[in-house]
Amino acid sequence: MKKFTNVRLKGQKELVSILTEDGIITGIAKEIPQECETVDLEGKLVVPPYVDPHLHLDYVFTAELGEQNDSGTLFEGIQRWSESKGNMTVEQMKERIYKGIRKEMLHGVQAIRTHIDVTDPTFTGLKAALEVREEVKDILDLQIVAFPQEGMYAYKGGAELVEEGLKMGADCVGAIPHFELAREFGEKSIHKTVELALKYDKLIDVHCDETDDTQSRFLELLNALVLMEGIGTRTTASHTCSFGSADNSYAFRMMKLFKKSGINFISCPTENIYLEGRQDTYPKRRGLTRVKELNDNGINVCFAQDSMSDPWYPLGNGNMMMILDHGIHIAQMMSPEEITNALDLVTTNGAVTMNLMDRYGIAEGKPANFIVLNAKTEFEAVCERAGIVASVRRGEFLFRKEPEKVTGAIDLLK
Ligand code: FE2
Repeated sequence: MKKFTNVRLKGQKELVSILTEDGIITGIAKEIPQECETVDLEGKLVVPPYVDPHLHLDYVFTAELGEQNDSGTLFEGIQRWSESKGNMTVEQMKERIYKGIRKEMLHGVQAIRTHIDVTDPTFTGLKAALEVREEVKDILDLQIVAFPQEGMYAYKGGAELVEEGLKMGADCVGAIPHFELAREFGEKSIHKTVELALKYDKLIDVHCDETDDTQSRFLELLNALVLMEGIGTRTTASHTCSFGSADNSYAFRMMKLFKKSGINFISCPTENIYLEGRQDTYPKRRGLTRVKELNDNGINVCFAQDSMSDPWYPLGNGNMMMILDHGIHIAQMMSPEEITNALDLVTTNGAVTMNLMDRYGIAEGKPANFIVLNAKTEFEAVCERAGIVASVRRGEFLFRKEPEKVTGAIDLLK
């Protein structure tokens, strides 16, 4: 039994204590008289762990392996990865995956959905990710998407590789319809995705319309199919950049249909502002989907890292607070209410997307998983890009960090 005292929860002015027993939250109250081991959290903001619902762990730190992506486009990134993959062992793959996970977890992440390329008949990435998922299961919720990076129908046998990936144990079906050779093939890949999800009882996460091309509307078909099948809340549309360029009257109609299906959206702000708009001169598009409008319409939307030093994006360090900071700037979400709720975009909304809500959140009966931010309010956390001072999993510290200490002549200004 353990007690965390002087805890500041979201939206609450009064501090509370959290009691945990066998890794589960058994009490949240102003006063908990129970005598047990006690940890003073000093009035800092405590929120559920960060969630990164879209990350390519098999690609992390591969930027230097092949030729440089000179055009900075999504399509050259795919070409560069295609040239350099296939030269790795499962052990080498696992080493990079662990490096990526460690970076994210040190920033307070405790749940990751990773897209693993299955258009490699050796399944090196998938084998590595499946082993890692098992090895880290006590400290991290790791979901794996069977992701056909080079398409399902852009060459013979692609769809079969996705199906094999699901049989091997991937949690979600992936697709990349805007990369298929023709619109009809892209549509076929969406039909196949839904068919496979139903056949194997899997979640869906499609790289959907990651292009500025306003004619790329695979999202419309994906949403319609999952709406008809009643699996919208088990479905995610990642990126949907073209929806950010869509005509307003089209967007207005689609918002109602998204709301009806319950489909989830993931936006990758740093990645997509970097990759998109490359064919624009000026005005130059931001590359993001309509994050603010989706959120205003009550549709679940969250932010993700996507890449760490890979052929698509040279930077990325798993710091979800940095992703959030970029996201709310690019999406223009800074009303007082939006700032207060901003952390939801990298916490709860991601957990909803990953269908984790049966075990996520700070409430009695849930696992005692949370992070402690070096801030006393939501505003301070977002404004200061507050760091993590502790990450707690099942009532135990995954780590604690000393907040930054400053000394010197600046002390005169106290
Ligand atoms: Fe991605």
